[in-house]
Amino acid sequence: MKKKVNLGVLVSGSGSNLQSIIDSIARGLLDADINVVISNNPDAYALVRAKKHNIASVIIKHTDFETRENCDQKIIDVLKASSVELVVMAGFMRILSPLFLNAFPMKILNIHPAILPAFPGINAQKRAAEYGVKFSGCSVHFADEGVDSGPVIIQAVVPAYDDDTEDTLTARILKEEHRIYPQAIQFYAEGRIEIIGRKVRIKGSKRIPETPLYNPPLTVF
Ligand code: GAR
Repeated sequence: MKKKVNLGVLVSGSGSNLQSIIDSIARGLLDADINVVISNNPDAYALVRAKKHNIASVIIKHTDFETRENCDQKIIDVLKASSVELVVMAGFMRILSPLFLNAFPMKILNIHPAILPAFPGINAQKRAAEYGVKFSGCSVHFADEGVDSGPVIIQAVVPAYDDDTEDTLTARILKEEHRIYPQAIQFYAEGRIEIIGRKVRIKGSKRIPETPLYNPPLTVF
């Protein structure tokens, strides 16, 4: 039997990324178990998804704690008690304290709906659509003390169109989030992630072709 990675998934909202991880495990594409789902939002639909799949879930409301450290300590305690090895932030809208980062050094992943370092923080898709970028996408990266700023593991690029709204761009990006997050976790499960300073190398990964993309397409060159 292959060794499975014990995951703790942190959520705040819909949990579609949680669902893609659940489905990837069920399809035998991801060598992992979700030991616990933790939400800071009691109304997160992600909690319904966890329940449906008999995954243990815990609500830890940040408003119940006086300091970020106290709240993070509680999350750490639950993760450790659940034997979690890798922490997966899936739409978890909180910045982690150094206390948390030090409890799981380079063992915390985050997904962000932009090609980092562009558009870190909240409302990334809205800001990208309003900015008029020609491409956007998503990034899975290690968490560090900054906002969406740690070493990048994998990115997907999608086109952005001049008639895009926040919703249309969000949907196009989300589809790719659901591919790259399970993939990044599987890279981890296979022991293929090598961190060299700010850079991540995936051992044994093919080099993609050197094919530029243009939006709009070139007509004369
Ligand atoms: C996703 O688009 C994720 O990339 C984003 O929140 C959404 C959660 O959706 N995260 C961030 O913006 C983090 N800065 P989900 O709850 O359906 O997975």
